[in-house]
Amino acid sequence: MPTVNTVREHGDEPVTMLTAYDAPTAKVVDEAGVDLILVGDSVGNAALGYEDTLPVTVDEIASTTGAVARATEDAVVVADMPFLSFGADLAESVQNCGRMLKEEDADAVKLECGPHTVELTERLTDLGIPVMAHLGLTPQHVNQLGGMFRQGTEQEAAERMLDLAREHEAAGAFSLVLEHVPANVAGDITDALDIPTIGIGAGPDTDGQVLVVSDVLGISENSPPFSKQFGDVRSEMERAIGDYVNAVESGDFPAEEHSHVEEDVDDLY
Ligand code: KIV
Ligand code: NA
Repeated sequence: MPTVNTVREHGDEPVTMLTAYDAPTAKVVDEAGVDLILVGDSVGNAALGYEDTLPVTVDEIASTTGAVARATEDAVVVADMPFLSFGADLAESVQNCGRMLKEEDADAVKLECGPHTVELTERLTDLGIPVMAHLGLTPQHVNQLGGMFRQGTEQEAAERMLDLAREHEAAGAFSLVLEHVPANVAGDITDALDIPTIGIGAGPDTDGQVLVVSDVLGISENSPPFSKQFGDVRSEMERAIGDYVNAVESGDFPAEEHSHVEEDVDDLY
């Protein structure tokens, strides 16, 4: 059974991670044998109807984490800390992160990282809250970055990413997500670290991969070019829901086998 320690000590087997935002999906993901389930702040776009992840609240990540954790038996459940729930004030950051383990049964938290999360990573780790770091494209910085662009495309930026990766490893992070970075940069950062890197849009040379489950299933309305759709669940949803509407409108549903006449109750009028 995977734990943050087996993930940290990862062998040659690639590390697998997928997001989930509800109990039934988490159960399927868990039973498929993924190592980690990420309760991503991508819940904002994927399930809550927001344009991006910025409006997602601590309460929303908390209730989603609870739903996922209740349905998960084996995988490591990681709560993705939302925009401004961490990083400004150390004590408040610790409270928000700790709540995910204490009240919602998460096993770890993920932080979109920068220079401001090194000390926090150390503090959380000291307190017993395992931290997954996240570098490269950090979507909570979309307003700073001017768009969802690939990161680490220039020498200096790539070197800064490597430095931050090392600093978070030294601070105690048990793994590192690398999002939307050149494959060679991700490969070099992977070589430089002992903890596993988990890539999304970061090429094949990371220690593991993560995708957004709704992109994998083919439910998302638009998914990034580096994602891959492994199914077409949206078509099946359209078919089933269309069939239901037609069956009600035509009177085919409910049929005799879906209803019960109680002989003990006489005509009421
Ligand atoms: O929120 C999310 O789904 C993520 C992954 C893309 C790593 O942060
Ligand atoms: Na995220």
